[in-house]
Amino acid sequence: MPDRYAVIGHPIAHSKSPLIHGLFAQAAGQDMVYEAIDGGAGADGFARALAAFRAAGGRGLNVTLPFKLAALQAADAASDDARLAGAANALRFDGGRIEARNFDGIGLVRDIEVNLRRPLQGQAVLVLGAGGATRGALLPLARAGAARIVVANRTADKAAALAAELAPHAGACPLNGGGFDALQGAFDVVINATSASLSGAAPPVPASAFAPGALAYDMVYGKGLTPFLRAAQQAGAAQVADGVGMLVEQAAEAFAWWRGVRPDTRAALARLTVPLA
Ligand code: ATR
Repeated sequence: MPDRYAVIGHPIAHSKSPLIHGLFAQAAGQDMVYEAIDGGAGADGFARALAAFRAAGGRGLNVTLPFKLAALQAADAASDDARLAGAANALRFDGGRIEARNFDGIGLVRDIEVNLRRPLQGQAVLVLGAGGATRGALLPLARAGAARIVVANRTADKAAALAAELAPHAGACPLNGGGFDALQGAFDVVINATSASLSGAAPPVPASAFAPGALAYDMVYGKGLTPFLRAAQQAGAAQVADGVGMLVEQAAEAFAWWRGVRPDTRAALARLTVPLA
């Protein structure tokens, strides 16, 4: 019997994870099946689906909205990344134990460094938004060697509080947060981690925030050239990208954790990447 894995979320019908992991399994020669589970809208839907999947012999889960906090809380052990992000996006069932990780941040870093060929070492990084997506990204960006990281948010206090909370864990990388109007200087990498693109809006980042040659990165995918990416191009950003590579790379991290084999991500990237313009 092939080993069973799944992604759980609500809604889940449009998840790309079964396609991605199917391509990984093929590329890595792994005998496994990967399905999508809708945890439902009810309060105990996640817990029930988790128990049923484990009882049926499931080996691991990817977890997406709105269950990332519940996944962390259900775990017997969690990585630092998951604990500091306050969210888990992958679970592994090891004997009777549930282990939790969060690969979103490392997926972002790998997409920027490997796929987009932008080493983060020494780079000034601006992250827009102060929600869960930013929380998961900050420490992996710091660990990759960013020279400094600034968090800018519509609600300035939230950015300041998040930066202050995580700064002690950011090693030598200065981490500061505040409002858009307090932004100073230019950044080599500007990452949109707000949910603005989902409603066709752009965060109010000033054109001066983009350094010459900057990379503008929008964590959403499948939305084409978002208002943020368009504004970035007009401000002189040299390279724009959406979050499809982050999705593929975090999946690859989970796959490697589960299977002990790092999959070749090229087939999945080729299948899912659509030209932005
Ligand atoms: P996620 O977990 O995806 O990060 P979230 O926790 O709901 O989602 O956070 C959404 C983020 O997008 C917040 O930083 C929010 O700003 P506020 O804290 O001021 O609410 C930001 N956001 C959403 N819509 C926005 C918009 N139109 N312009 C600017 N920022 C926006």
